[in-house]
Amino acid sequence: MKYDFDRVIDRTRTNSIKWNKDFLEEKFESDDILPFWVADMDFQCPQPIIDAVKKRAAEEIYGYAWHKIPTYLDAVINWMKRKHDWKIDSDWIVFSPGIVPAIYMLIQTFSNRGEKIIIQPPVYQPFSEGIENNRRQVLTNQLLYENQKYTIDFEDFEEKAKDPLTKIFILCSPHNPVGRVWTEKELKKLGDICLENDILIVSDEIHHDLILPGYKHTLFSTISEEFENNSFICTAPSKTFNIAGLQTSNIIIPDERKRDAFTNTIASRNGLELPNVFGIVALIAGYDKGEEWLDQVLRYIEANFKFLKESVNERLPDVDLVDPEGTYLAWLNFSKLSMDNNELRKFMFKKAKVGLYEGKMYGPGGEGFMRINVACPRSLLEECMTRIVNALKEKST
Ligand SMILES: Cc1ncc(COP(=O)(O)O)c(C=O)c1O
Repeated sequence: MKYDFDRVIDRTRTNSIKWNKDFLEEKFESDDILPFWVADMDFQCPQPIIDAVKKRAAEEIYGYAWHKIPTYLDAVINWMKRKHDWKIDSDWIVFSPGIVPAIYMLIQTFSNRGEKIIIQPPVYQPFSEGIENNRRQVLTNQLLYENQKYTIDFEDFEEKAKDPLTKIFILCSPHNPVGRVWTEKELKKLGDICLENDILIVSDEIHHDLILPGYKHTLFSTISEEFENNSFICTAPSKTFNIAGLQTSNIIIPDERKRDAFTNTIASRNGLELPNVFGIVALIAGYDKGEEWLDQVLRYIEANFKFLKESVNERLPDVDLVDPEGTYLAWLNFSKLSMDNNELRKFMFKKAKVGLYEGKMYGPGGEGFMRINVACPRSLLEECMTRIVNALKEKST
């Protein structure tokens, strides 16, 4: 079927955190905010998922559910094989209600208070929050930024990896917010340094199905068996099919000892082993029948990025859009506008009235940037640009 992603769906009626009016007013300290912040899509879900959830809802009983059933496990196994060329065993799949809680519990399980964890800012902010709130130390291997492109500072990474207190590296692959899809060569270099220094890798691959044409995602564990046994691959259908509210993800852990330790934390110590009734059927429908939708949505997102790039070049010549390779998150550099973080924030929220995520939130290197979620109907993105352009005109008059 052909999906209509131009259709604007009113999400204000559905308790959407992105669109709830009171929440937005409080968060952005302004009214009439048009939201492009949190990472979910303003698009209708794949029809097979809608059908499966409706069918399940029609059963009229929503008691506790169980996911270790062949249809669920096979759906995950087949998706990993078909889309990511990774052959996994059903035993390796550990359910988690989300990737953020899983990362926090991986930190708790595989490091001790005071130990160090490497991250690559500017990066998804719950990484540093989870490290600090669990009383571990953040080690920043800041990404290098040159000519609108991000690369890894391997020398600095190796130095930090050699610190005997360093225990874990949290990889964001593809990278939120800078949009890099890491090459196999880059990943191999990181993985080798981690192996040499006895550092575990938590690979957050939640965006691994959202890859733009011309780029190839390498699932970290497919590089070698040694990498497979030294890592925790965090996967989910949530970003892929726009079902984040169903809280269904899978942490894939081939090494039995590590898997048992994590299962002990998530299930025995935190009681989080039971899945969401609708999450199960949505995952199965998405992985088994959602590819047609995914192909179409990726084409739409690509066109939105193209629109944004042209629009920024024409109408905001002092703003740089970092070339996106994956995710649906645009990363824009506003530094040349000579506003400090506070001014930029006030400008976006109070003058332009667009709800964006501020770059500084993602740690060092994020200052002067803003993140725009482009997974929305084109008309909303056009309105976002118009609001920013008009506010800038007003500012300069
Ligand atoms: C890199 C990354 N990891 C994790 C999450 C959230 O995962 P979950 O909703 O499964 O906790 C997001 C959401 O934006 C993300 O971008």
